[in-house]
Amino acid sequence: MFGSLFSLPEVACIAGKRQATQVYLPSDDSQRSVSGRGTLAAVLAVVLLLGFSSMLRAQTDCLGCHADKTMQDAAGNSVGVDADTFHASIHGSLSCTDCHTSIKQYPHPDHIVAVKCETCHTEQAKGITGSVHASASAHPCTSCHGDAHTIFPKSDARSAVYPLNIPRTCGNCHSDPALAKKYGLQNVFSVYMDSIHGYAVSKEGLLVAANCMSCHGSHNILSHKDPKSPTYKANIPNTCGTCHGGVMAEYTTGVHGKAVAGGNLNAPVCSDCHTAHAILQPTLADFRMQSTPICGSCHKGRFATYQDTFHSQLGLLGGYVETARCWDCHGAHNILPESDPNSPVNPANLIKTCGRCHADANASFVKYQPHANPRNRKLNPALYFTRFFMNLLLWSVLGFFSLHTLLWFIRAKREQGKRGPAEGENHD
Ligand code: HEC
Ligand code: HEC
Ligand code: HEC
Ligand code: HEC
Ligand code: HEC
Ligand code: HEC
Ligand code: HEC
Ligand code: HEC
Ligand code: HEC
Ligand code: HEC
Ligand code: HEC
Repeated sequence: MFGSLFSLPEVACIAGKRQATQVYLPSDDSQRSVSGRGTLAAVLAVVLLLGFSSMLRAQTDCLGCHADKTMQDAAGNSVGVDADTFHASIHGSLSCTDCHTSIKQYPHPDHIVAVKCETCHTEQAKGITGSVHASASAHPCTSCHGDAHTIFPKSDARSAVYPLNIPRTCGNCHSDPALAKKYGLQNVFSVYMDSIHGYAVSKEGLLVAANCMSCHGSHNILSHKDPKSPTYKANIPNTCGTCHGGVMAEYTTGVHGKAVAGGNLNAPVCSDCHTAHAILQPTLADFRMQSTPICGSCHKGRFATYQDTFHSQLGLLGGYVETARCWDCHGAHNILPESDPNSPVNPANLIKTCGRCHADANASFVKYQPHANPRNRKLNPALYFTRFFMNLLLWSVLGFFSLHTLLWFIRAKREQGKRGPAEGENHD
């Protein structure tokens, strides 16, 4: 029965070939003493093959050769398998042939069929099929799970998909500028690593902070344009809300949250104000400085009037962060129309709202208009005329002195011409 598979001289010949190229020998220091060990290897292989059946079934059958970590194929690629790591891995109890189904005997068949993970993991494979990573040749299972013989449970810190390792795993591709350019993607990895979530994952080892998978999913990752994607605009509040439950509750009762829930996608979701990957700690000056223009990008009119006020001008002066920004008066998540009695800018609540910073705020103080529009004569006549007068004054003073300076300059030049070049300016 053995002879039907391959003959003894064939095995010896294979072993001999390897001996010549010094590619494969079964023990670590074997490369130095070629001939004796080579014969031994051939004998061992034959004994091994005779000892078991003609078919290779058990791990040990394969590991008898492949456990040599320095083993290479003819092309110089490693074909060694670290037996200890493999045994410790999640697939350690499987037979090699459970995955390498086309290899049943030695020598190996000419055509070795690529391992199909989907035979055992149908659900994950189905997820990949419909996802952005569907192109199986570019994204085989091992592109995220790493070397096929060292796969660990996702809860094991050695796993490539352990929460703290996921950013690096996705980042292997998503920090590559060439890939980003080729597929027209944002290069998100480095921005993410600098964000509050990236910091929490990489520096604090916080398992509950958001990694790529928390927002995108794992196998069935979809484009943000797909309404089924957790990153589709209307779904983002729920995606962030799985962890930020308190903020989520406030947001849904606010005017923006209600608008989005009602299908108005012009209203902001979490990522419009916080971004998706570059999320900063809101107490940072950087965030405070950039957030008024964010509200302003949609509320252009209110932004313009705010910019005319003392609060804004103060904010612009050297980045003064203590001044009032949009959300100091309106709130950040539970924003309500002025007419709502719960709104902090409802007239009944203004003393309290302004009083947070102006301890002496009273009914007359809060008559000050945070959005006064001096360009609108009908709404704010006093301001309009004050502005008109101040501008008139400013421009006439500026005009007078510009003219004065110009005449002065011409005259000075003329005087200089009469006197001739000054001493010291005569170079030869
Ligand atoms: C007698 C030693 C020996 C035994 C036993 C053996 N292999 Fe190999 N295997 C090799 C050698 C040598 C190579 C390199 C192949 C080449 O250069 O053609 C290799 C290559 C491979 C490859 C890579 C093929 C490729 O395309 O690069 C796989 C997969 C493999 N073996 C799996 C197995 C499995 C599974 C078993 C057990 C069922 C097994 N081998 C048993 C010696 C062995
Ligand atoms: C969970 C499935 C699985 C098991 C179990 C498995 N392998 Fe593999 N093996 C793979 C995959 C996937 C590859 C990558 C090539 C491919 O896709 O076919 C591979 C590649 C190889 C290679 C080619 C060189 C390399 O490392 O890439 C060798 C040799 C090999 N396996 C030997 C073994 C041996 C020996 C065993 C048993 C001790 C074993 N494999 C068990 C999935 C498996
Ligand atoms: C884009 C990266 C990526 C690719 C490609 C990928 N996986 Fe995963 N896989 C993950 C992540 C991330 C997890 C962790 C999921 C979790 O923690 O809930 C995971 C978890 C798993 C699990 C554990 C069970 C589960 O679903 O949580 C299995 C099994 C699995 N993957 C198999 C596969 C197979 C089979 C393929 C190929 C068809 C594959 N994976 C392709 C990223 C990927
Ligand atoms: C012959 C069946 C079989 C094949 C083929 C197979 N696996 Fe598995 N896999 C299993 C079994 C069994 C488990 C253990 C399941 C468990 O304990 O929940 C497992 C577990 C896993 C896990 C860890 C699950 C967890 O809970 O975190 C991952 C990841 C995984 N396999 C990925 C792969 C990848 C990638 C491939 C292809 C290279 C593959 N598997 C091929 C049978 C298989
Ligand atoms: C806190 C949630 C969150 C985390 C964490 C996160 N993303 Fe995103 N990601 C999003 C959202 C939301 C979008 C949708 C587009 C946008 O708002 O920029 C997006 C868009 C993308 C895009 C562009 C895809 C498209 O649809 O245009 C890629 C690529 C991407 N993310 C990869 C990653 C990677 C890789 C990581 C981990 C390093 C990661 N993301 C971490 C929420 C997140
Ligand atoms: C092997 C490289 C590779 C790995 C690993 C990888 N990606 Fe991707 N990803 C890509 C490529 C390439 C694309 C472009 C889509 C395509 O394949 O056509 C893409 C697309 C995406 C997109 C959406 C792009 C769009 O078209 O809107 C998101 C989101 C994304 N990846 C997130 C992830 C996350 C999260 C992980 C980790 C769990 C990950 N990727 C792991 C290569 C990779
Ligand atoms: C998997 C859970 C999870 C998801 C999903 C998540 N976050 Fe976070 N987020 C956290 C954790 C945990 C922290 C605290 C990190 C720390 O303090 O180091 C945090 C911190 C923050 C902070 C800083 C808070 C502070 O007080 O400093 C902001 C802002 C934030 N996340 C916004 C978002 C947005 C926007 C999304 C959705 C696009 C989102 N998060 C999705 C877990 C999550
Ligand atoms: C209209 C803009 C806007 C939207 C939409 C928004 N935020 Fe915020 N968020 C802010 C501002 C501004 C602050 C800072 C508030 C402060 O310092 O008082 C903040 C603060 C935070 C904080 C930290 C402080 C706290 O209140 O706990 C977290 C966490 C947070 N936001 C998460 C989210 C999540 C999750 C969503 C979506 C459900 C969201 N934000 C939607 C503007 C917004
Ligand atoms: C992405 C665009 C966008 C951003 C950013 C944005 N808003 Fe809005 N806002 C809207 C839309 C759209 C509405 C109207 C919602 C509705 O009732 O349909 C609205 C309504 C309001 C209202 C109620 C006004 C009314 O007429 O009912 C206030 C107050 C408000 N926003 C303040 C803010 C503040 C403060 C910020 C920054 C912290 C902000 N908005 C950021 C789009 C935006
Ligand atoms: C100093 C407090 C304060 C600041 C700062 C402030 N607002 Fe207001 N806002 C108010 C008050 C008070 C009202 C109601 C009176 C009015 O309409 O002028 C109001 C009204 C509004 C309204 C109309 C609400 C409605 O129900 O009709 C919007 C929209 C608005 N503000 C947006 C903004 C934006 C955007 C910013 C930042 C660029 C901002 N506000 C900064 C106090 C403030
Ligand atoms: C987040 C804090 C904050 C809030 C809330 C706030 N302000 Fe201010 N405001 C300032 C700061 C800081 C200055 C400049 C320093 C100063 O003069 O007190 C200022 C200056 C002013 C000034 C000009 C200087 C003065 O004190 O007379 C007026 C008027 C004013 N605020 C009105 C208001 C009104 C009305 C509200 C409520 C609708 C309000 N502010 C809410 C921080 C705030």
